[in-house]
Amino acid sequence: MRKPIIAGNWKMFKTLSESVAFVQELAPKLAPFISVERVVCPTYIALAAVADALKGTGIGVGAQSVHWEAQGAFTSQVAPTMLQGLAEYIIIGHSECRAYLNETDETVNKKVKASLAYGLKPIIAVGESLQQYEAGETQQVVGGQVRAALSGVDAANMTNIVIAYEPIWAIGTGKSASAELANSIIGGTIRSTLNDLYGNQVAQSVRIQYGGSVKPENMQEYMSQPDIDGALVGGASLKVNDFTLLIEAAAKAKGI
Ligand code: 13P
Repeated sequence: MRKPIIAGNWKMFKTLSESVAFVQELAPKLAPFISVERVVCPTYIALAAVADALKGTGIGVGAQSVHWEAQGAFTSQVAPTMLQGLAEYIIIGHSECRAYLNETDETVNKKVKASLAYGLKPIIAVGESLQQYEAGETQQVVGGQVRAALSGVDAANMTNIVIAYEPIWAIGTGKSASAELANSIIGGTIRSTLNDLYGNQVAQSVRIQYGGSVKPENMQEYMSQPDIDGALVGGASLKVNDFTLLIEAAAKAKGI
């Protein structure tokens, strides 16, 4: 069985001290739910302190982006080598990075390969815009993003990859995709693309999350879907009680 993975994407929220205080409060609440992989992705400024505060708690840490070079003259950027020992996961290709920070399918692919090369696990975010959704282009857009992100990635590395389906129209809008729709894109488009690329065994083993207005009230519905293995959560991951309820709901829905 694929172990569920719930990751909190904090985006540009919480100062250093707020981040540390938050995980100190969160860690004991999440402690009972060892059957679910629990990850928080703070800003770079708080990454080291959060990683330190979470040592020994079983809660993983992720970064929100990474450069593809090991080092160099790239003002403002952080290299994968610098994340080793601090972060286990890296969110790559988030729609906000694609929209505001010039992230493209090509840079996503470079970042995925660089992360894997340094032993870091990419959470690859894919998803269509409202316009693409309404034009019936979801399958084509999402399938294309998955193929581009994984170009040159071999099957052996797929155990270290998580994919997050985040329809852009559902992010931070309060307008979530129905659980059935999310499941059909995740199973029918993403898993079937993985099947084309790597065969059925890999396609069935990769964990795929849903993201977009996930809340304690709708979490169980998503997690009851057979192809949804977790969630990439923005807003609701910034509150200790909500994040705890999400983890609890995931465990309950999967009966673990
Ligand atoms: P919200 O949960 O706030 O809609 O954000 C989703 C997201 O972008 C997670 O990466």
